[in-house]
Amino acid sequence: MAPALAKLVAKALPLAARGLLTGYTTTALIPFYEDTTGSGVDWSTNVHVTVRMGSTTGHSYRPIVDTGTQGMVFSAPEMDYDFNTPCEDQGTPGWQFLSSSNLLYEGCWVPRDFYFNVGDPVNPVVKASVPILAMMYKSECPTFDIASTTGHCPNASVPRIANATGTRMMGVGWGRQYDGLPQGTPDKNPLRNIVSIGTQSMDPATAYSAGYVLDSHGLRVGLTDANTAGISWYALEAHASIAGEFREARACIAVDGATPCVPGHAVVDTGIGQSYLRMPAGTALRFVSGHSGRLVDTSAVRVDFGAPGSTAVATESFTLGSPGSPNVNPDYVSAVFRDPALTYINTGRHAYRAFVTAFDGQNGRYGFRSV
Ligand SMILES: *[C@@H]1O[C@H](CO)[C@@H](O)[C@H](O)[C@H]1NC(C)=O
Ligand SMILES: *[C@@H]1O[C@H](CO)[C@@H](O)[C@H](O)[C@H]1NC(C)=O
Repeated sequence: MAPALAKLVAKALPLAARGLLTGYTTTALIPFYEDTTGSGVDWSTNVHVTVRMGSTTGHSYRPIVDTGTQGMVFSAPEMDYDFNTPCEDQGTPGWQFLSSSNLLYEGCWVPRDFYFNVGDPVNPVVKASVPILAMMYKSECPTFDIASTTGHCPNASVPRIANATGTRMMGVGWGRQYDGLPQGTPDKNPLRNIVSIGTQSMDPATAYSAGYVLDSHGLRVGLTDANTAGISWYALEAHASIAGEFREARACIAVDGATPCVPGHAVVDTGIGQSYLRMPAGTALRFVSGHSGRLVDTSAVRVDFGAPGSTAVATESFTLGSPGSPNVNPDYVSAVFRDPALTYINTGRHAYRAFVTAFDGQNGRYGFRSV
């Protein structure tokens, strides 16, 4: 299904994608656990959702919602993983590496059903079916090779903690395979593999457009004209080799008012409060002395989200040390010089104080609306 759709999108998008959601009506909110009052989260902490595994009466978990990764990772001893059967007989060995924290999760991808909104008086039950990484080993590996094809930390002295508990992540991003997540593919993303909403199954005949809106209340799965009203969209590039996948969103990045901005990619990551920046060698950056790679207060960063050469659909700008309103300042900005082709910013979660975003997995678009 996906490759054919990607082609369709490439043709349809120049028409500003008007009407792509006409007739689509199926949607459901998966609320953030932190939105206890219904007034929305303030993005000062991680956000979580409640989900049952296996069946609607299965164990209930509260994973972190992470747009910086794709795929679910739970500590194996805390889920129904069968330690008495070899991984190969129940799934596929694998790993996920988080380039922001250098955490390497090793384990076994096993297929499972997930149920959101069980017992919720308002929002219908949403069922997704995806493989989850049952994490058996956790390590902190700063020397990990993000191009690794084995998933092992090259430094054999790094402690590899067996059966570490407490890891529960729900990665709902895309396009991060090159950054240590080669197995973080669309088939692992619960929000891209929804089986049913309420009593309605998401077969091709259903008026369901795969994608989600992310706002301060939670994840609204199923795009409609109503829940995307006011969103400014731009096209995501198809991934060169992974069917149905897209590359990270495009953005043009400027530090300290430099012109022109430098084209690259961007991730608005719910999973971190800080920001990571990769700029071409020679970019003028001001670093805190003795704090390797951190930009000084008074550094000004501007991120124009949009297709290269086109008008930005949204702009995030901030000056470290001078919070604006809303305060989108990350906790800090960690910057490195890299190949210009790797120019990138992970804005961190505070950007969501200014924007509602929408990911359209069916039509290959990403969009923003000011809060
Ligand atoms: C390997 O890991 C050990 C333990 O964490 C650390 O002390 C050592 O510096 C690391 N070596 C390299 C080359 O990073
Ligand atoms: C992890 O825990 C399981 C279940 O208690 C046990 O069977 C397994 O041997 C443990 N793995 C390691 C490496 O200690």
